[in-house]
Amino acid sequence: MDGNGRWAKQRGLPRMEGHRRGVETVRTITFAARDLGVKRLTLYAFSVENWKRPQDEVGALMGLLEFYLKKELDTFVRDKVRFETIGQTQDMPASIRNLLEITVEKTKHFTEYTLVLALNYGSRTEMVDATKAYTQAVISGKEDLAQLSWPILSKYLYTQSSADPDLVIRTSGETRISNFLLMQAAYAEFIFTPVLWPDFTKANLAEAITEYTKRERRFGLTSEQLSPKAQ
Ligand code: FPP
Repeated sequence: MDGNGRWAKQRGLPRMEGHRRGVETVRTITFAARDLGVKRLTLYAFSVENWKRPQDEVGALMGLLEFYLKKELDTFVRDKVRFETIGQTQDMPASIRNLLEITVEKTKHFTEYTLVLALNYGSRTEMVDATKAYTQAVISGKEDLAQLSWPILSKYLYTQSSADPDLVIRTSGETRISNFLLMQAAYAEFIFTPVLWPDFTKANLAEAITEYTKRERRFGLTSEQLSPKAQ
């Protein structure tokens, strides 16, 4: 969700105004994605590196997140949105941790659509955490190192057994992955759009999904293997 700061700067507004507008886009896109048939939407809201931003911005972002969670809980329950998080949420401020736990708990029985917030998330940190948890399981005899495979190791990631992302969209013209779902996105399609996150609309999302449907996902195979009849 990149470009909040630039959106504000272009308008001569403080950076936080961009983040506030960014939260409006979070609301719009959460429901737009579901309308468009998406089953699981993950939003990269706060990375492990984002703590290094100026302390007043970090504090204000936490405030915004708290406000958002308080406001959205009823909406998620009413509209049957399952809410999950990935990341080291145990290190988020206590007030937010509490709200996250309540929101996850109250929405965990919904199965049709899931909104995931990546909070205090970083893919490398996730890999380290997975390695520690897996190693612990080997030591305790729950896992057998000789049997290790990707399906087994991936269960130790924050995403556990959820499906890999099909499409990753980065807004604001940046063309980096920035430590986001590196393992899970191994075969994802990527779309980089110049639109700044506060300006990102349902139409932009629909356009990205249409572009995605035109791509041929080969997963290492050849086109001929995928559709032999076309030959
Ligand atoms: C990236 O834009 C945005 C962030 C690092 C923060 C995103 C967080 C929120 C919108 C608020 C909290 C989240 C939720 C889900 C309520 P940037 O600041 O890097 O923009 P720039 O690259 O233009 O400076």
